[in-house]
Amino acid sequence: MARSSIRVGLLVLSSYIALFMLFQATPALAAKKNLFKTCESTPFCRRNREFADAASCVSPSSWAPPYAVDPSTVSFESGLLQGTILKTAPNSETPVEFLFQLVFLESGSVRFTVDEKQRMQATALPGFPDNLTQRRYNEASKWAVVGDLTPDTSASESSTAEEQADGLYKVKYGPEKQFEAVLDCKTLRIEFFRDGEAHVVLNDRRLLNMDHWQEKPAPAQPKEEGVEEGAEESEASASAAVPKGFPDASEWTDNFGGFTDKKPKGPEAVALDITFPGYEHLFGIPEHADKFSLRETRGGEGNHDQPYRLYNVDIFEYEVNSPMAMYGAIPFMQAHRKSSSVGVFWANGADTWIDITKPEVAENAFNARRSTETHWISESGILDVYVMLGPSAGSVYKQYGALTGYTALPPIYALGYHQCRWNYNSEDDVLEVDAGFDEHEIPYDVIWLDIEYTEGKKYFTWWKSMFPTPEKMMQTLAKRKRKLVTIIDPHIKKETGYKVYENMSKNELAIKTSDGKEYNGWCWPGESAWIDTLNPKAVDYWKDQFKLGKFCGSESNLLIWNDMNEPSVFNGPEVSAPRDTIHFGNFEHRDVHNIYGMTFVNATVQALQARQPRQRPFVLTRSFYSGSQRLGAVWTGDNAAKWEYLQVALPMILSHGVAGFGFVGADVGGFFGNPTTELLTRWYQAGAFYPFFRGHAHIESKRREPWLFGEPYTSYLRNAIRMRYQLLPSLYTAFHRASFEGMPVVRPMFLMAPENEEALGIDDQFFFGETGLLVKPIVEEGKVETDIYLPDSQVYYDYFDQTVYQGVGYHHMDAPLEKIPILARGGHILVRRDRYRRSSSLMSHDPLTLVIHLDKDGSAAGVLYMDDGETTAFSRGAYLYRFFMFSAEDNILRSRNMLPPNQISKSYDKTIDAVRIERIVVVGFDTAQLKKSGVVESFQDRKSWPTEIEVTEAAGGKASVVVVRDPKVLVTGDWSIQF
Ligand code: GLC
Repeated sequence: MARSSIRVGLLVLSSYIALFMLFQATPALAAKKNLFKTCESTPFCRRNREFADAASCVSPSSWAPPYAVDPSTVSFESGLLQGTILKTAPNSETPVEFLFQLVFLESGSVRFTVDEKQRMQATALPGFPDNLTQRRYNEASKWAVVGDLTPDTSASESSTAEEQADGLYKVKYGPEKQFEAVLDCKTLRIEFFRDGEAHVVLNDRRLLNMDHWQEKPAPAQPKEEGVEEGAEESEASASAAVPKGFPDASEWTDNFGGFTDKKPKGPEAVALDITFPGYEHLFGIPEHADKFSLRETRGGEGNHDQPYRLYNVDIFEYEVNSPMAMYGAIPFMQAHRKSSSVGVFWANGADTWIDITKPEVAENAFNARRSTETHWISESGILDVYVMLGPSAGSVYKQYGALTGYTALPPIYALGYHQCRWNYNSEDDVLEVDAGFDEHEIPYDVIWLDIEYTEGKKYFTWWKSMFPTPEKMMQTLAKRKRKLVTIIDPHIKKETGYKVYENMSKNELAIKTSDGKEYNGWCWPGESAWIDTLNPKAVDYWKDQFKLGKFCGSESNLLIWNDMNEPSVFNGPEVSAPRDTIHFGNFEHRDVHNIYGMTFVNATVQALQARQPRQRPFVLTRSFYSGSQRLGAVWTGDNAAKWEYLQVALPMILSHGVAGFGFVGADVGGFFGNPTTELLTRWYQAGAFYPFFRGHAHIESKRREPWLFGEPYTSYLRNAIRMRYQLLPSLYTAFHRASFEGMPVVRPMFLMAPENEEALGIDDQFFFGETGLLVKPIVEEGKVETDIYLPDSQVYYDYFDQTVYQGVGYHHMDAPLEKIPILARGGHILVRRDRYRRSSSLMSHDPLTLVIHLDKDGSAAGVLYMDDGETTAFSRGAYLYRFFMFSAEDNILRSRNMLPPNQISKSYDKTIDAVRIERIVVVGFDTAQLKKSGVVESFQDRKSWPTEIEVTEAAGGKASVVVVRDPKVLVTGDWSIQF
């Protein structure tokens, strides 16, 4: 493999690395199977799966798990239902106590937590390792959640005294008290009702299972005297005595791939099953290279036989159609069925496995319906789960965003095109590529430098012979209103004289080994230490490195790429940090593994904010967790220049989007290898609609700047990129909506047609933001036609030639290589900027074009959000927010302010008061209704005037097009145009 040879070159001195290389030199799939765990090779996963198997072997009434609520402890007050769960455990005379809480939140979600009482106490538990925090890790929510977690005191008890005497507790909550939670103390099931129907059930199959602290059991004695048995056999015989669901002595250490995890806290797994009655489709839990609608994981045709895994790993050239763990983890899942959506968020940062099954459940003697059952298993921490009852997909995203925050509104340049490769080799190289874009009249905003710009992979330094005057290079880019992104990873080279390392080390700001020393491992620079950004002092230290003036050679148009932050450790278990390494707060890495990458980006974002407080930061990350959407963009890691990676990119982007992370893209062109011109063309055509649009390539792949392939390909790529730039006003508006409602930018079918169950599995087409554009990129070799699915009965128009399509179901379209199949749904107004400029900032005062696709009744509407695109002034109200409406009743197009008069920013409006609407295109208008022939009448500020129009009549299956050129109306004003 290409990447392995690079690594060998870099790290040849290390025998560890040599070993790692050996793994990578074997064919990719086989290597991965060896490098990464399966559920079977993960004892806590295997054991909880076996627990589930045992439960399914018997009838639900005879399944007797060791957990029960003690009804005498249950109380409800001020939005909080709480009590004690008792666990009957072998080797313990009294039951082990767990405290549970159901917190009814104002945002309409409910939080369910379970913690282990003995670990919450101040007194030290005998035998508990004194270098570790005794309490179970409970800070996943602290990192992920920014919303209000205080209970909603208006939630009210709805169970009768008799029901309570019978152990049934009911609470009504949520908007207009339309939700109800019911806890049955006898079974420990918690059902969540909306409109009298259960939509989510916690512990439905009674698979709740939490290991409790106990000292390592002594291995059982050999059965017969004189018979020598190895320790392993002794442990195995001890395990025979252990009841299902409980760990046996072998779980106190873990051996995998030549690494031993000593597990000083012993087994600490936490597991729960969650059922979605009547739901067949689940979405979310990125990151996996798989279908958008999650598959079953217990075998069977088309299903997986492994659970979906969330464990952030550097899984270069990943397998597609796989539930394997990838770079990031968002333990949020959405279930959708006809006109109903619900969600759950499993706030846990440890290694997590999720089984999914979809059994048919008998409703009565005649009917059965499918339900979806899930089983969540994490290695450690408290049980902390949030339930959201919708009812619509949009309201689920809003509820999840109210907890974990929304996509940060990016600076507009970040929505332009990004040109990256590993590597641009020198300042000249960078400036030549920059000039190449202008020469070929292709817009772009940001050029990127990968790891080779540094001196020996030491971040905050420059490779002087190739980048002698980086500040000048940045200034040249700045003159063209362009930015530079440089990569900065969390591994810090262990080298004497390298101050970033020396001071970090001296101040003990790195991740530590289990015995308290600095943890060292291998990554790009060779031997390295990892900054522990869970430590507030390390965050301050990190912020300091970025200061203008301190980060030599950096200018104000420099932004950052955080990579390898899973963290990737070439000689670590599963290419990451050992689980028993220690972070700030004396928590083990195992507890925070999936959160670490986010804490690193958080530090970088804070650093950029401190460096330039008025500018919005831009940071791209590879690793992520719930809440990372507040910090910047993400990409899907090391794909390859093969068609299957182009195919899987879209389902992956859809998954990120529904899990709150709207600002996502995939390496356009494919990272490893060399795309054919056809693949590259199709990838740019798809990529132009990715929320984050970046071309990137591996160091050993051939150069592929968009003009290198000659005509007609240069034109095809240019057209795709220019189309992206045309649509920036509408794309930015979609990001604005994501930033306060969590609505994804790339939208699945069910967001437009929530009642259409047939469309739930469709993941090769999508709606683009607010535009109503239904895009179906071509992702198969040699394909020049496609069938596009219309999810509703609205009228649709070919975006390029206005051919009319209508009727639910598949419709045939031609798709020669130069064409992106796009239909515009009737009823939407999109806003474009049609003039070619070198970069997005240069477009900020260009006139706008409104494109109106009328619905079947002749109406349409749309919104436009605008601000200065770069600073934080928008957060103080400096923006414009307008509503456009074309009404079939009077054939008038109106522009109105969405903001109440006291919120209109006169000062911002002044900066754009010359921005006019230069063109209005109306598709599908019944031209017989034109009031006057050849003109429309415009009205603004009590004046009116005529404007000439061009009319193309409907013909040959194509809709009519009416074009109004320069109607002399301004974007800031209220105006009307009579057609
Ligand atoms: C990782 C990244 C890739 C980058 C490379 C070198 O493989 O995923 O994008 O180019 O490291 O930094």
